[in-house]
Amino acid sequence: MSNRTFTMIKPDAFASGYTGAILKQIEGAGFRIVAMKLTRLSAEKAGEFYAVHAERPFYGELVDFMSSGPIVAAILEKDNAVEDFRKLIGATNPANAEEGTIRKLYAKSVGENAVHGSDSNENAAIEGNFFFSAFERI
Ligand code: CMP
Repeated sequence: MSNRTFTMIKPDAFASGYTGAILKQIEGAGFRIVAMKLTRLSAEKAGEFYAVHAERPFYGELVDFMSSGPIVAAILEKDNAVEDFRKLIGATNPANAEEGTIRKLYAKSVGENAVHGSDSNENAAIEGNFFFSAFERI
């Protein structure tokens, strides 16, 4: 069990004005914000972040989408953070997400799915380090 995970509010949700509602839901579920920034990924940086998916057919679309507009990146803290956050956001495809989850409420499609959540403690650390230096964590 680890107590930290990493999230991004993706370009679709930011552009639709859902950032405040999503952060409210995250904090309401007991997550503490440890680091947060409004930023934008270049295509090169998005490709690097999602390098693990480089062989997937949707990789190009994913990189284009994730570099298409501003995002909010954050490190979150809570007991059992990775697992609990994935429950809070719901299935990758919003059509399969449970009622009340962030993706059910705010995601448009499997590609434009509102938020990212790390899938393991190891990836949470890697992804947090991708965006934040030690000095930027509270
Ligand atoms: P995320 O969990 O942030 O990390 C991988 C992303 O790939 C995932 O969210 C989806 O947004 C995206 N993805 C997964 N499957 C597909 C798909 N079939 N088509 C487009 N994008 C996808």
